[in-house]
Amino acid sequence: MSILLTGGVGFIGSHTAVELMNQGIDVVIADNLSNSEASAIDGIEQITGRRPVFYPIDVADPELLDDLFCEQSIDGVIHFAGYKSVGESVAKPLQYYRNNLDTTLTLLETMQKHKVKTLIFSSSATVYSACEQVPFTEESQPLGCSNPYGWTKYMIEQILKDLCVSDADLSVVLLRYFNPVGAHASGLIGEKPSGIPNNLMPYITQVASGILPKLHVFGDDYPTPDGTGIRDYIHVVDLAKGHVAALAYADRHQGCEVFNLGTGKGYSVLDVVRAFEQANDLSIPYEIAPRRAGDIAVCYANTQKAEAVLGWKAEKSLAEMCRDSWRWQKSQERE
Ligand code: WQD
Repeated sequence: MSILLTGGVGFIGSHTAVELMNQGIDVVIADNLSNSEASAIDGIEQITGRRPVFYPIDVADPELLDDLFCEQSIDGVIHFAGYKSVGESVAKPLQYYRNNLDTTLTLLETMQKHKVKTLIFSSSATVYSACEQVPFTEESQPLGCSNPYGWTKYMIEQILKDLCVSDADLSVVLLRYFNPVGAHASGLIGEKPSGIPNNLMPYITQVASGILPKLHVFGDDYPTPDGTGIRDYIHVVDLAKGHVAALAYADRHQGCEVFNLGTGKGYSVLDVVRAFEQANDLSIPYEIAPRRAGDIAVCYANTQKAEAVLGWKAEKSLAEMCRDSWRWQKSQERE
């Protein structure tokens, strides 16, 4: 029996494939490579000693996905496939609703046809974007997402909750990621943003390597200790291990359950810059720029539920996140 990872060649998917395979779980990956490179499959093989079965298909294609389910013995799915850029979703909302919802609906219909009853969904802390207080708990009611990307995640969560009402045998776990950063310590897999990075850590690593001249800090007038935005950065390997724990939980439970996957600690933009400089013994030039539309001041997780119910807790420090991010950036430049 295998676990299907849709979008499994991507940043979080590839790291989750490694952690599952390290536990002896067979993995099948379906990915159309629209936002990732097949070289990550080689990295997974080099790290684990085994090559996952790979289908270079669009998960939204019902025929191709049905062929996969006919050919492989799938007993659970981790659903990563989807567009994920907040800024791009504001500029191209139709593409985001079409892609993220079509992919999910085709997957769910195919799972239903093949009687596959376990699903882990890659959701996001973005659903909390307008909530009133931090740290966010799973009961913090979203007061309206601040971008189409967040809305697709929130809508898919609702679809899955409704599906669980219609089929009591389903086991669905919604994982709300905070800010994934870092890379596997081997330097063989990591984040590969196309073009100029939207997110803070890959932008910093490209400044460190001289690809970009300096970091623009989006606002230093937030109601925070140093005025810059605070986020809950979590190492991607800790996040991947959270998926292994979620799968074990799903095997023991029915129904739909939501968990925050964060560290429970918030760091400001300037905290991250200083941590990166200290961890890697280099300096990051930056200048203060205007706030970025859609950003909130503070976002970090209450992680008690995942610790108590999944038995999972993030372990890696911000310094490790900075060291592993930098090692990955340098390994890209050697290629
Ligand atoms: C972090 C902080 C910025 C870039 C997004 C998505 C979220 C998740 C993670 C998918 C903020 C500041 C950033 C820069 C900066 N992705 N910043 N200069 O926006 O918290 O979350 O990515 O699930 O859904 O919303 O992450 O890394 O873009 O920003 O000052 O060049 O860094 O203002 O305070 P964000 P981010």
